[in-house]
Amino acid sequence: MIDVQRVSKSFLSNGMTAHVLDDVTFHVKKGEIVTLLGHSGCGKSTLLNIIGGFIQADEGVVKLQENEVERPTRNCMMLFQQQNLLPWRNVFNNVALGLENESISKKEKYNRIMDALTLVGLEQHVQQFPRELSGGMQQRVAIARAFAMDPKLILMDEPFAALDTFNRYRLQDELLTIQTRKKTTMLLVTHDIDEAVYLSDRILIMRSNPGKIYKEITISLSKPRDRSHADFQYYRKQILDEFQFSGQKYEPEYLI
Ligand SMILES: Nc1ncnc2c1ncn2[C@@H]1O[C@H](COP(=O)(O)OP(=O)(O)OP(=O)(O)O)[C@@H](O)[C@H]1O
Ligand SMILES: [Mg+2]
Repeated sequence: MIDVQRVSKSFLSNGMTAHVLDDVTFHVKKGEIVTLLGHSGCGKSTLLNIIGGFIQADEGVVKLQENEVERPTRNCMMLFQQQNLLPWRNVFNNVALGLENESISKKEKYNRIMDALTLVGLEQHVQQFPRELSGGMQQRVAIARAFAMDPKLILMDEPFAALDTFNRYRLQDELLTIQTRKKTTMLLVTHDIDEAVYLSDRILIMRSNPGKIYKEITISLSKPRDRSHADFQYYRKQILDEFQFSGQKYEPEYLI
């Protein structure tokens, strides 16, 4: 579904060249949930933007379903770190934005919008404008817009970061339900190790300067997962150790 081959990217900033991504290669199969995990600034958003066709790589190739990515397409929906809602449109019309070029009946359009808003718990807020919503509610509008479009592939850049724990857990479960039903392929960026272990089939750990994938961890637990189970904690600890946060002395030579 996603085929990233030897992607590199540098940015020129204040006369200096920053080598942000170096020789990144990975694949995501149809129906898989894969997470990119790494320190702030390691190039996760840049990589997602390249896969979504929003920025161009300097070297390498990205293919979605065998087709080389040159620009954003509607088969691939991206949820950004910022919500990108239009302030002059109410909740309903912000979700409708994603369906504007679809050749579907008015009734189906309405149903898809309301289904997506019900899913994120905002069906009572259709008339409100973004400025009248909390940060978490705004993020849920953006998530509803993505779901309403029913894409084959969703790229998500920390989509639940602005949500409180209860809404985050609820939406993670909803995401898994939809994903199981529709076999949507998902590539997720997160800082949240629990979220990564809860949702992912595979986790790709990145290092910085330049951004590179140095470890892949397959989570072989059936879903839905139990956060308190010893197996869940095993994976959590394995990842914490990679980031040296677990209090144990553990210094892999590839961490910088
Ligand atoms: N348009 C740009 N011009 C110059 N430098 C950029 C640009 N976009 C990103 N960078 C730099 O590239 C590096 C990676 O940025 P990126 O946003 O991909 O990181 P990230 O891993 O998503 O971080 P975070 O977890 O904080 O969101 C950073 O050092 C950033 O300053
Ligand atoms: Mg980012």
